[in-house]
Amino acid sequence: MVEHIHIIGCGAIGSLLAAKAQLNKYPVVRHIRSEPVTSVRLVDQQIVHLNTLQNCWPASSKGQNLIILPLKSYQVAAAIAQYVEYFPPNSGIVLLHNGMGCYESVANALTPYPVYLATTSVAAFKPSVTHCIHTGDGKTQLGAAGHTKNKAMQQSILSCFQSLLPSVQWQADVHRALWQKLAVNSLINPLTAIHNIANGQLLEPQYTEQLAGLAGEIADVTKAENLYLSKSEVLTTTFDVIRKTANNYSSMQQDVKHKKTTEIDSINGFLLDCAKKHGINCPYHQAVYQGIKAISC
Ligand code: PAF
Repeated sequence: MVEHIHIIGCGAIGSLLAAKAQLNKYPVVRHIRSEPVTSVRLVDQQIVHLNTLQNCWPASSKGQNLIILPLKSYQVAAAIAQYVEYFPPNSGIVLLHNGMGCYESVANALTPYPVYLATTSVAAFKPSVTHCIHTGDGKTQLGAAGHTKNKAMQQSILSCFQSLLPSVQWQADVHRALWQKLAVNSLINPLTAIHNIANGQLLEPQYTEQLAGLAGEIADVTKAENLYLSKSEVLTTTFDVIRKTANNYSSMQQDVKHKKTTEIDSINGFLLDCAKKHGINCPYHQAVYQGIKAISC
């Protein structure tokens, strides 16, 4: 059974997880370097005042530790380098972020631990530094990064996640689930950021051709990667997300607006790297990649 939950990072999803863990009476520690979020308004309007421990590693007892890193993809490697020496021996690590390619860069440092990858469509944002609002529920998919033999850890981490978030599913092939999320992000995020629009505005006809072009290139690249996501499958899933999150602003639109680093390198950049490996030309992804580079830091 998971005894302690450690959450590294103070973003919206990390704060939401901390609130849910506190409500579920887990001993939870947040590891944060800036001012912490103090209150979270849940989707049912309940307000949770966070009073978790911060920046400590309580002496571990018999139970397991769940260490969650709900960070931006480009922050993960530095966080692992900073904290890995403190990870208690009986820990499972969950990397939860948009984009791909990040696990490979930290896999060596995490060799002693079972590592799990997760992707979520739960929506939350921080209207200010100390507040977080949970705006919508969605599916969370979780699976082992490699071959983990620790079935007991896997089961407890899954049960723990299921008590924190709705619709958490175990994925035997989490890489496929990550590609599906990457596909959606690679269509919605750069276009909403470049045009400075809410997700729902992508339903307007002027974006149809570009969305179809981006989806077609994902089909080509995933076919070469042997996990084929068809163009129509990508478009159907993306339009579903666009409709469900019509009033939301994507994370990349927010990053560009607030002059923060975007996740373009681990989303469209990752896809372009795969395409290059297979000798596939992706002019639509190349164009949005350059478009974001031109307007972001
Ligand atoms: O990155 C985001 O904002 C979200 O993953 C998504 C699905 C694009 C919805 O806004």
